[in-house]
Amino acid sequence: MGKVIVVTSGKGGVGKTTSTAALGAALAQNGDKVVVVDFDVGLRNLDLVMGAERRVVYDLVNVIQGEAKLTQALIRDKRVETLYLLAASQTRDKDNLTPEGVEKVIEALKSAFDWVICDSPAGIERGATLAMRHADVAIVVTNPEVSSVRDSDRIIGLLDSKTLRAENGEQMEKHLLLTRYDAARAERGDMLKVDDVLDILSIPLLGIIPESMDVLRASNVGAPVTLADGRSAPAMAYFDAARRLKGEILPITIPGEKQSLFGRIFGRKAA
Ligand SMILES: Nc1ncnc2c1ncn2[C@@H]1O[C@H](COP(=O)(O)OP(=O)(O)OP(=O)(O)O)[C@@H](O)[C@H]1O
Ligand SMILES: [Mg+2]
Repeated sequence: MGKVIVVTSGKGGVGKTTSTAALGAALAQNGDKVVVVDFDVGLRNLDLVMGAERRVVYDLVNVIQGEAKLTQALIRDKRVETLYLLAASQTRDKDNLTPEGVEKVIEALKSAFDWVICDSPAGIERGATLAMRHADVAIVVTNPEVSSVRDSDRIIGLLDSKTLRAENGEQMEKHLLLTRYDAARAERGDMLKVDDVLDILSIPLLGIIPESMDVLRASNVGAPVTLADGRSAPAMAYFDAARRLKGEILPITIPGEKQSLFGRIFGRKAA
């Protein structure tokens, strides 16, 4: 059985879709079988970042409503054999996602893939709670700024109460992915420090992704950054994060600083 990951945040525009695509591709580039699932019904973005927007015929809602088989809706990546996309519908709304339908689709995907990575919509409404409902692992994407950290804290509360794991009294594995980290702004004190974010959120750090033009360039050519430019700083940070997801223990360096954060990877509570 594969693992179900939700990539979530509360606040919008922090890098969930970018991270879903990059981590999904990174895991698949290492040979794992991966499907990335777009739960952002109505907005539909993951297919663009994956460069598959012209190939979407059927989507998650079609499958849930019985209008297409799962195998018809899965889009196989043209670059990485083991990478698949299940797109969201642009024309329907979130009400078309039923809890029973989502459960069926996730169960089917779990039995066919090593990783099922669900790209959550922003906010704490229905779409976001459905995206996290079946997760084994949550990646909380946060920017180093107060509003993003505050919203992540709320999401962590939901992960600990509204998910199947929480309802069954099981622990949800949670990781913090700090994205759009700008070393120059951090130096000037315009952003929260990594330590401050870790103190507030108290969940283990999966990685720090630097703010980089490489991410924009990749999205403009319709490729996850790990595929568009695997040697760029954000791509390498995503590759490392993917290895940590698989249980490897690697030091984390704060962009622009030399010292690594080995001791903090496990979060303050565990320390
Ligand atoms: N590390 C980065 N460096 C520079 N730009 C980035 C980085 N990560 C994400 N972005 C840019 O930030 C914008 C928002 O990213 P993305 O769409 O991934 O966020 P999101 O959390 O999925 O947004 P939404 O909540 O709307 O779904 C995009 O234009 C993306 O290219
Ligand atoms: Mg998004």
